[in-house]
Amino acid sequence: MWYTKHRYIILILCVFVGVIELTGNRMKELFNWKEIDFQFENETYRQIMIENGQFIPGHCIPTAIAIWINKLFLILPRFKLGVPASLAYININLTEVDVNKTSPQLIPYPNWESHDISLRNITSVLNVHIDPCDRLWALDSGQIENKYETDPSLITFDLKGNFILDSQKIRSKTDYKTEPFLADILVDVTSSNCDSAHVYIADANNYEIIIYNLKYRDFHKISHNYFHFDPLSSDLKIDEIHYQTQYGVFSLTMSPVNRDDYRILYFCPLASTMQFAVSTRVIQNKTLDTSESFYEFKIMGSRGTNSQSSASSFDEETGVLFYTLIAKKAVGCWNSFSGDEYNEKTQGIITESENMIYPSDVEVNRSGSVWVLSNRLPKFLYGNPRLEEVNFKILTSTIRTIIKGTVCDAM
Ligand SMILES: *[C@@H]1O[C@H](CO)[C@@H](O)[C@H](O)[C@H]1NC(C)=O
Ligand SMILES: *[C@@H]1O[C@H](CO)[C@@H](O)[C@H](O)[C@H]1NC(C)=O
Ligand SMILES: *[C@@H]1O[C@H](CO)[C@@H](O)[C@H](O)[C@H]1NC(C)=O
Ligand SMILES: *[C@@H]1O[C@H](CO)[C@@H](O)[C@H](O)[C@H]1NC(C)=O
Ligand SMILES: *[C@@H]1O[C@H](CO)[C@@H](O)[C@H](O)[C@H]1NC(C)=O
Ligand SMILES: *[C@@H]1O[C@H](CO)[C@@H](O)[C@H](O)[C@H]1NC(C)=O
Repeated sequence: MWYTKHRYIILILCVFVGVIELTGNRMKELFNWKEIDFQFENETYRQIMIENGQFIPGHCIPTAIAIWINKLFLILPRFKLGVPASLAYININLTEVDVNKTSPQLIPYPNWESHDISLRNITSVLNVHIDPCDRLWALDSGQIENKYETDPSLITFDLKGNFILDSQKIRSKTDYKTEPFLADILVDVTSSNCDSAHVYIADANNYEIIIYNLKYRDFHKISHNYFHFDPLSSDLKIDEIHYQTQYGVFSLTMSPVNRDDYRILYFCPLASTMQFAVSTRVIQNKTLDTSESFYEFKIMGSRGTNSQSSASSFDEETGVLFYTLIAKKAVGCWNSFSGDEYNEKTQGIITESENMIYPSDVEVNRSGSVWVLSNRLPKFLYGNPRLEEVNFKILTSTIRTIIKGTVCDAM
């Protein structure tokens, strides 16, 4: 009968999948933490910080990561009080990692003083991007516990010298009708032309992309209907946490430079299962007529139901776009070089469910590795995190290994 034959095929498939998994097509869990700890100058000082409420371990949650040579940066927004540093790093010199160092203490970046709230140098970092010119660009919300301490800003760090290069006020907090939520940042620049960078910033609450032109130190913003949220994808169920989101344009990533000297900007709203794209030629144009340019923004396709995504990263070597799948608790992939249409069937998955808590961020580094941050963000924001369980994990793999056997492997 047809169904018994079907079952037989399924059995064989399961055996195959099992073999592939056993032969190492897995992400390696490098670090995990139950709670975050920082490298304070001494133990007395840590105790003082805890006693006066400046360090509340249960309020510190890394939400994004970035990798630069031996440093793994962790971004800790000050959504709550008690976060002593909002940007920190750990050393990932892999030879030094042993079984006893799986939960390393975080080192504030570039130093402790920069995170002193009263100095207003760094208030609350929401996301960062590292460019090929060894600069780290940070989006600072200017808010602590949802209250403005200062205006939102774009802070640039020199990674070789470990200091703040520049700080630009994005827009005054009074310029907004709706409070901004600066969800993602992307820096469009090549190492041969470091002075002419364009920075793209997604404002998920105002449904805008803000563009910063480094050469002219100038900001402009653009809007488009595709930056809005899809009400049919706005309901999220993540474990026992159930919530609705109205966040629009959230996740940004881009292709290599094309023959016309521009890139393709890939973007998607948080409450959406669709992927969109636009040439950077369009969004860099300050005098753009938005109704005239409406059709320059392209609908790539749908990833299917429950495929809302919060972060993405592009590997220029393989052409693979990696992205988080928050409702499916996975990290997906799509090969932009394959020439295939963007739809549910051309999407792959690179993570195992038992390894994932909530996929908060995914990043590829310059030498072909993919890094994933898994945490309990929904529970942290809407429920009660428990400090006796593993709350944060850092996973990594080489890209070639992890895409092998998925639709994202063009070989
Ligand atoms: C501990 O660190 C604090 C902050 O830098 C410093 O003021 C204090 O003198 C240090 N205490 C000791 C015993 O080193
Ligand atoms: C990329 O990550 C790998 C670990 O997966 C590391 O060995 C390598 O040094 C990193 N490369 C760069 C350029 O950051
Ligand atoms: C990595 O750590 C090893 C062992 O501590 C050290 O010899 C090596 O110089 C380090 N490499 C870098 C690039 O820091
Ligand atoms: C790791 O920790 C265990 C138990 O705490 C200890 O026996 C072992 O020597 C440590 N290993 C290293 C390399 O420090
Ligand atoms: C903080 O910012 C001020 C003004 O830009 C600067 O003079 C100072 O060096 C900064 N402090 C740190 C610790 O970066
Ligand atoms: C910018 O947009 C305007 C209006 O849409 C158009 O006339 C102009 O040619 C564009 N500039 C560039 C450099 O594409």
